[in-house]
Amino acid sequence: MQPRHRILIVDDDAGPRESLNMILKPFYIIYLASNGEEALAMAEQYPIDLVILDLKMPGLQGTDILKEIKRQHSDIEIIILTGYGSLKSAVESIRYGAADYLLKPFNVAEIISVINKTLHKKKLYDDLKGFLKELGQVVGMDADPMSVKQDLKEHQDILKRVRTLIAKPLTEVTTSSSVRCLDFVKVLTDTLDKKDSYTYGHSSRVNYYANLIAQKLDLSQDELDDLQIGAFLHDIGKIGIENKIISKDGKFDDRELQIARRHPEIGVELVAPIGLPHHVTSVIRHHHEFYNGTGYPDGLKGEAIPLLARIVSLAEVFDAMVSNRPYRKALPLSEAIKEIKRCSGTQFEPRLVDILVRLIEEKGEGLLPEHIYPAPGMVNA
Ligand SMILES: [Fe+2]
Repeated sequence: MQPRHRILIVDDDAGPRESLNMILKPFYIIYLASNGEEALAMAEQYPIDLVILDLKMPGLQGTDILKEIKRQHSDIEIIILTGYGSLKSAVESIRYGAADYLLKPFNVAEIISVINKTLHKKKLYDDLKGFLKELGQVVGMDADPMSVKQDLKEHQDILKRVRTLIAKPLTEVTTSSSVRCLDFVKVLTDTLDKKDSYTYGHSSRVNYYANLIAQKLDLSQDELDDLQIGAFLHDIGKIGIENKIISKDGKFDDRELQIARRHPEIGVELVAPIGLPHHVTSVIRHHHEFYNGTGYPDGLKGEAIPLLARIVSLAEVFDAMVSNRPYRKALPLSEAIKEIKRCSGTQFEPRLVDILVRLIEEKGEGLLPEHIYPAPGMVNA
């Protein structure tokens, strides 16, 4: 029998607290807290899996408790409990790392379904974290793509686990294989992003910009889907590279540069067992090619670089320019435009540069997805 999950219910109001307790007690091990301080102490003392948190309480506010729990125990999932009056803050709380929110008064079926979905997702995260840890151990920092391939071949168990993870639906409702694949990819890249707190959300934002550019091109739905997965996965090869190198301020020595430059090829090897469409793997392999042929790993030129890779290449560099990094502030949009235009025809395809510049000029700051993806440091990055 599976061990029962542990749920902490935090509400100053005894009514909802006790009724939730009654509903959930048959299925889970329940802990109760009536304020933030108590909640934090319990999260410290017990191996809690999930917290159901009321937003409106006297003393420590719900969002502060949420941030604190996430800061101290990033693996605890949190579901927000809220009335209609504080719906806005509930939605906001998702940005701070809450998994979901529930509206009072409760609907029992909905509560059970949200809890199950969240715990299922947590299990997937935990499995993945374990998997990535093992993968990191197998794929040492000095590994070149060929030896990664060899290492992975010798560790068939890891490959098997990748397949099993993908085969598992994330929720009862997401059973189609493309949705499942995308869910997997999101969880995977989220884990990767957390390796380097300063690029937190990078893959999601690259996906966002790539999609904005792609909307102006005549792409099929299949190509758009592949672009999305490719944008999320483009840097997956960095899993095998030491944190120290990934987080560096860009001034690599020769050896580090060599290691960092292997990530497109390593990435392709890593996802090989997933059997992704060729369009997707070519984004991973070619997102550092330059339009004039001076990029890596293959020095492809112009139209020979797959279109989706050309899009991701521009989206990625643009995101890096307009995001804060530990060693420099984000470039203002006007400067970013200048820089992209300067690299038009050398690093980037001119047609794509024109599209992005037009988008920036039309939407200005509104183009930046800060309201969608939190800035580094706001969550448990
Ligand atoms: Fe990259």
